[in-house]
Amino acid sequence: MRIGICGLGTVGFGVLTLIAKNAEEIRRKTGFVIEIAQVGNRNADPLGLNRQIEVASAKGDTWHISTQFTSDIFDVVRNPDVDVVLELIGGTDVALKLVTEAIRNRKHVVTANKALIAMHGDEIFAQAAAAGVQVRFEAAIAGGIPIVKSIREGLAANRIAWLVGIINGTTNYILTEMEQAGTNLRFEDVLKEAQQLGYAEADPTFDVEGIDAAHKLTILSSIAFGTPLQFAAVYTEGISGITSEDIRYADELGYRIRHLGIARKSENGVELRVHPALIRKEEMLAQVNGVMNAVMVASDSAGRTMYYGAGAGAGPTASAVVADVIDIARSEGSTGIANLGFTPKDIQALPVVAIEEIACPCYLRFSVLDQPGVMAQLSTVLSQHDISIEALIQKDAHGGNAEIVIVTNEVIEKSINASIVEIEALSVVQGDVTRIRIADLHE
Ligand SMILES: NC(=O)c1ccc[n+]([C@@H]2O[C@H](COP(=O)([O-])OP(=O)(O)OC[C@H]3O[C@@H](n4cnc5c(N)ncnc54)[C@H](OP(=O)(O)O)[C@@H]3O)[C@@H](O)[C@H]2O)c1
Repeated sequence: MRIGICGLGTVGFGVLTLIAKNAEEIRRKTGFVIEIAQVGNRNADPLGLNRQIEVASAKGDTWHISTQFTSDIFDVVRNPDVDVVLELIGGTDVALKLVTEAIRNRKHVVTANKALIAMHGDEIFAQAAAAGVQVRFEAAIAGGIPIVKSIREGLAANRIAWLVGIINGTTNYILTEMEQAGTNLRFEDVLKEAQQLGYAEADPTFDVEGIDAAHKLTILSSIAFGTPLQFAAVYTEGISGITSEDIRYADELGYRIRHLGIARKSENGVELRVHPALIRKEEMLAQVNGVMNAVMVASDSAGRTMYYGAGAGAGPTASAVVADVIDIARSEGSTGIANLGFTPKDIQALPVVAIEEIACPCYLRFSVLDQPGVMAQLSTVLSQHDISIEALIQKDAHGGNAEIVIVTNEVIEKSINASIVEIEALSVVQGDVTRIRIADLHE
């Protein structure tokens, strides 16, 4: 099995290290040795080692890999000695051209690029099917967790009802730091700390605004339900509006706040949404802390299963990339498993349920004037929209204001939206109402 690596950054280097470190273990399992035919990177010799690369394990063991280097990654996809191209450059423009050319040259492709698959997967898979090559992307979602394999293969006999995932380590780190600090840590301060620790990018938009999670959810939902990839239809909300007060009130009410990707099949189609949500503390997903990832899948025969592990980093991501290379080698001569786990002719579009039509319980926080009759005004508005109160916290006034937190019954989003508009117009209500959805993991 001769591979060509495009992109020698965190993941590319992780792949080199893993292949060198576990060469013998991989040979024992598969009967073959993975040969690195060529490595392409903008800086052809990023380590200044000239044609030999030294990789080291955490324990300090070192290996030397001899390979051909090139500064033109397109050399790799044209190289007749390369059987499998590893696209590890990131981005979508050059990556799409690279993968398209690799497929045209009848090379199998392994990628860790969620944006590429979420936005261009359907066309890439069609090209690959026509060329008779495989495209694999386990590393694109949840790093070291074999979630694609679990859903596509392990749960192949099931109908999947829903899946809920913590699929972005940066947002999970920020929320759990705010939770564990227990004081008034602000989102902005924790983000800065996450950037210093290397858990957040210098430009954190993709992570904190939920775009990265939406890419991953797009892929997961298509694998779960056999639908085309529809990134543009995912409702996406980030975590920048979450405050330490919300985390504290959620705790008092028996919940934790996590940033979730939710895909659910309903009578009206599929729900595809990424947003912060309260989850009951006793749920396994609520125990997922720091940069870790987890995905819970509800299927009709296996029931609820959960997959947990490191969602990023050189080692975990390389583990998924190299497993894909091994799968391709093991399935040589066959077309392998369908990309989305369903035969391409059976991929069926389903309507995506508009966020306004989604029903879930909600957490609402209001700052109100500390005067009699306020609660009556709030509950009148809520009851006019058929919203009932399941739990309530009222905190003593400070500076003339009181804080009220309400947990509602399950309610259609448009009713909550309408009630929030009316509540914000009440003269006793100060500022905006905070609303966070509550995830029910039992239906
Ligand atoms: N890091 C993770 O933990 C992780 C986890 C899961 C998935 N992924 C995915 O894996 C992919 C790679 O991520 P990464 O963290 O390894 O990125 P990275 O550290 O930035 O590495 C990318 C490498 O590719 C090179 N490159 C980019 N465009 C190129 C071009 N046009 N020609 C030649 N070389 C080019 C870059 O060189 P320059 O530095 O010179 O630009 C860099 O060395 C991304 O799709 C990412 O989403 C990463």
